[in-house]
Amino acid sequence: MSEMAALMGPAAELVEFGAGSLQKVRLLLDAMDAPAGYVPIDISGDHLADAARTLARDYPLLHVQPLVADYTAALTLPAKRQGAGQRIGFFPGSTIGNFAPDEALRFLRMAAGVLHGGALLLGADLIKDPAILHAAYSDAQGVTAAFNLNVLARANRELGADFDLTQFAHSAFYNPPLQRIEMHLMALQHQLVRVCGRSFSLPEGFSLHTENSHKFTLDGLQALAVKAGFTPGPVWTDPARLFSVHWLQAPL
Ligand SMILES: C[S@@+](CC[C@H](N)C(=O)[O-])C[C@H]1O[C@@H](n2cnc3c(N)ncnc32)[C@H](O)[C@@H]1O
Repeated sequence: MSEMAALMGPAAELVEFGAGSLQKVRLLLDAMDAPAGYVPIDISGDHLADAARTLARDYPLLHVQPLVADYTAALTLPAKRQGAGQRIGFFPGSTIGNFAPDEALRFLRMAAGVLHGGALLLGADLIKDPAILHAAYSDAQGVTAAFNLNVLARANRELGADFDLTQFAHSAFYNPPLQRIEMHLMALQHQLVRVCGRSFSLPEGFSLHTENSHKFTLDGLQALAVKAGFTPGPVWTDPARLFSVHWLQAPL
């Protein structure tokens, strides 16, 4: 963390894409040299406002400017504060892996544009023994299964759907040619469901493909970053090389 903070330099401004509950960023803020500002971006406005209020209370010297926006669309960031140092993007949780490759490139090009002259700190999950991935995405506690099934609960709540959650099974597997974990929900028996006023007949075994989580090699991730206009800098991994964090210098 101290190496990252040294690269950021004094009075840097942080911009977090998909900031969530603003927990991980605290580790970075604590290591940084007098951060000048923090722009947490999230699509979920109410949650962002609450989390930003709590963070601003805990970091009274930090200028916190929450921005409700969709980072897959064109972004306009607030002007950099006078006297601020580099603008550093923060996208830590391997959310980059949830994009299809062309979407990941589009996101990185957008980030290179808004961070010009600064850098992006990017987390990326690495390709590893599929047994480790399977154990994580089909965990014994059923956390990932509950997360996956929640999409049906939300469809029931927000799209007037009538999915019976007990009639779907969570399925996650590594797809080696596409270098990604795929998450599916399999219909346990034939069923009729209504979504947004339309009826769908799902045969037994029908698979709803709910999410992808792409895994990367260090070289593959850096090649993608170069294509988007970044210059790769230092990379940090854990000793087992399961996960990586990349310093990517944005173009001027
Ligand atoms: C898994 S949380 C990550 C939180 C934090 N960055 C971390 O790594 O701990 C993902 C956050 O991204 C937000 N999000 C998802 N898609 C988004 C989008 N297209 N634009 C902006 N925020 C988005 C979600 O609302 C959620 O708060």
